Amino acid sequence: MDEAFGSSLLDLCVCCLVKSLSRYSTDVQTLPPNLKDKLIKMMSLQGIITDENMRQVLHPGLQKLDLRDCDITDHGLIMLQICTQLREINLSSSDYKLSITSEGLKVIASSCPHLSEVCLRRCRNVSDEGIVALAQQCRLLQIVNVSGCLGITDSSLHALGKNCKILHSVDFSATKDKPLIPGINLVNLCCTASMVSDAGVIGLVNGVCSHNLKEIHMDRCVNLTDEAVESVLIFCPHIFILLFHGCPLITDRSREALQQLVGPNQMKQVTWTVY
Ligand SMILES: *[C@@H]1O[C@H](CO)[C@@H](O)[C@H](O)[C@H]1NC(C)=O
Ligand SMILES: *[C@@H]1O[C@H](CO)[C@@H](O)[C@H](O)[C@H]1NC(C)=O
Ligand SMILES: *[C@@H]1O[C@H](CO)[C@@H](O)[C@H](O)[C@H]1NC(C)=O
Ligand SMILES: *[C@@H]1O[C@H](CO)[C@@H](O)[C@H](O)[C@H]1NC(C)=O
Repeated sequence: MDEAFGSSLLDLCVCCLVKSLSRYSTDVQTLPPNLKDKLIKMMSLQGIITDENMRQVLHPGLQKLDLRDCDITDHGLIMLQICTQLREINLSSSDYKLSITSEGLKVIASSCPHLSEVCLRRCRNVSDEGIVALAQQCRLLQIVNVSGCLGITDSSLHALGKNCKILHSVDFSATKDKPLIPGINLVNLCCTASMVSDAGVIGLVNGVCSHNLKEIHMDRCVNLTDEAVESVLIFCPHIFILLFHGCPLITDRSREALQQLVGPNQMKQVTWTVY
């Protein structure tokens, strides 16, 4: 009873503090880590963490940081230099996020060697440079989500395959989607014509993580062919989620390969589009 009351009273206090954070910013800075964690969690849920207020709540022992839909830029990521124990970071956006680039990611890569989960969904300005840095310096990565990051190419996949032995889930879906407006070619809209191809997928699935990979989302990657699907099935014996819908070059051959190469109950989820 006391315990329940105590924790709800604490939650109430934290909630009040969040509401008038700017007034108490110097006091917040001196709070113990467990209270800062509570503050961060509440601020995350409300999506109100910014470059400015993040400085006060960060602490060196921080392990999880959910910044999805928060207004954070590379300047904020630079402050994460002190968070050497960080395990998970979520920078996803429901809309496109332009304020995070590889410059910010390189800081995280060099400061947070224990990172295991990185979610960058729709961080459109992130390029291979950032992902390669993460792959090279954060060898404990297990989950990487770069869905909708339009700057990602084979180099990122090769780097993950080369360095991240315990990687089990990778999402690089929609890293080059169909044109949003019919008749307008996205490839021409972007300054580079490179995109994820079969060679990148082969580099990933044939790399050091091949036996750990369980989940790959490669849907809406318009340049992938049956060779990409077949290589996943050949090199990843423990794959159980494989999404490849919206890849117009992938044919019936992949469905046949699924039947031939995979045991009847192994797959939990598979998606494709019939063209
Ligand atoms: C990150 O946020 C997305 C929503 O944008 C969510 O689907 C995903 O589960 C989150 N991942 C982590 C590691 O919190
Ligand atoms: C993000 O990319 C857009 C073009 O897509 C560019 O105009 C903008 O300056 C970039 N933002 C940053 C912070 O680099
Ligand atoms: C990547 O993020 C998207 C959006 O939040 C989510 O739907 C997807 O399941 C994530 N991928 C993985 C492998 O967790
Ligand atoms: C598509 O993939 C092939 C090889 O799989 C490659 O030669 C070609 O350049 C790719 N197209 C683009 C636009 O990247």
